[in-house]
Amino acid sequence: MSSVLAWSKSVKLPPGKLSRLDEMERSDRRTFQTLANQIGPVFKGTIDGRFAICVVGNKIARRLLSNHSAALKPVTIDVSRLFPGEFMRGMQGEFHKSQRVALIKGLGTVNMDVLKPSMHQIIREHLEAYCKSKSNPARRYDDFYRWSDTLSVITSSMLIQLVLGAKPGSKLLHDLMRLYRELGPNGVAWNVGDKQVDAYQRISDCLTQSPTIEDAKGLITILSNQGQVDANMLGNLIYMVETGRYDMRGLFRWISKYAADNPIWMTRIRTSEPDQRAVVAKAFVQEVLRLDQSERLMREVLDDIVFEGFLFPKGTLLRVCMWEAHKDEQAFEKPFAFRPERFLSEQTFGEGFSPFGLDQHLCPFAVFSINLASIFLMELASGFEISATGGEPSVRGPYHWEPAPDFSARLTQIKNT
Ligand code: HEM
Repeated sequence: MSSVLAWSKSVKLPPGKLSRLDEMERSDRRTFQTLANQIGPVFKGTIDGRFAICVVGNKIARRLLSNHSAALKPVTIDVSRLFPGEFMRGMQGEFHKSQRVALIKGLGTVNMDVLKPSMHQIIREHLEAYCKSKSNPARRYDDFYRWSDTLSVITSSMLIQLVLGAKPGSKLLHDLMRLYRELGPNGVAWNVGDKQVDAYQRISDCLTQSPTIEDAKGLITILSNQGQVDANMLGNLIYMVETGRYDMRGLFRWISKYAADNPIWMTRIRTSEPDQRAVVAKAFVQEVLRLDQSERLMREVLDDIVFEGFLFPKGTLLRVCMWEAHKDEQAFEKPFAFRPERFLSEQTFGEGFSPFGLDQHLCPFAVFSINLASIFLMELASGFEISATGGEPSVRGPYHWEPAPDFSARLTQIKNT
């Protein structure tokens, strides 16, 4: 008798019909929240054609993830064709702990103050170029693509500098930008094919053979000096730039939409005293993360689990619903309203706010991501007026929710900036 049958004698599966939850969510983003309100925070359905169990609510999700960590494996990219070992998001146990500790130790010595001026410069140059470029009316959604491409170039350059140490204006940065375009031309390269293997190999060669990388202040040099860069760590650094640049581009796209919709906040950032500007910008960024950029954590159930009296059979896809947890009225008053001030008065929401994860896989770049996004926002606010058309209603893109494809940003440079 299978273990599922054995369990099913004494323990029930969670409530819910076997509906196609991913399809339902595409037409109504509040699907998971509505189901949680109707049948409770743990329910079943199907996602991508697989049996799935969903959990809504940070407290309950944290308990599940910490009580059953050994049986829950994060769903992530299969990098086996690229480098030995796994992508950090998918690692477990002691090896995960040691790689993570090394990464966080290295990150702790990255000096953001040294990198900040060139980050500002990268953003400013690309925003100015965007102002000057003209849209092509023959290309459908051209403005959308131009803005998206601009944000992609900005986030890729920032992360290649921060993680891989390529200086602005250097040949190394130029070469890596070209190779990353080949690695994932249209979005994160989730499925690794021959093109990705080829581009990855050339990025790796470029980094291991570059004479300039020694002088740089990037994370890779710091880790290398600490003796931490083996083939697995190198692969992780290369691929975290790939996934991170799209996470950041998604965030920057949402930021630009909220910036256009809320000019009062842009004026507030522009006119704040220098020591307050970053505080206001960070509050704005956190509110955007809460409202739109954080969505879900996915786990593969490796062994039968019993949680809250329900059976999670081996082979289940687990979805931890973060977007929904961020709309909890108990944690956030008027949860659908854009109110950055909630992050001004209270910088942390503890259990309630979790855009960077909920367990031992918590994003090591959380603070950096907020800092980089607030640098982008401050540059946007101080040098440009932004307006936008379209973008409503938001749509489920290949990986994340996004403004509708007709979203287009218009930038006008403010004189004398
Ligand atoms: C908008 C910005 C970002 C968001 C919202 C974000 C979110 C997350 C989340 C939710 C996780 C946990 C995944 C899970 O538990 O399954 C995670 C993990 C991770 N993130 Fe980020 N991230 C962002 C930017 C970045 C960037 C820029 C990098 C690096 C360049 C990065 C590198 C990582 C790594 C290496 C992990 C795995 C950590 C581990 O497994 O121990 N992230 N991120």
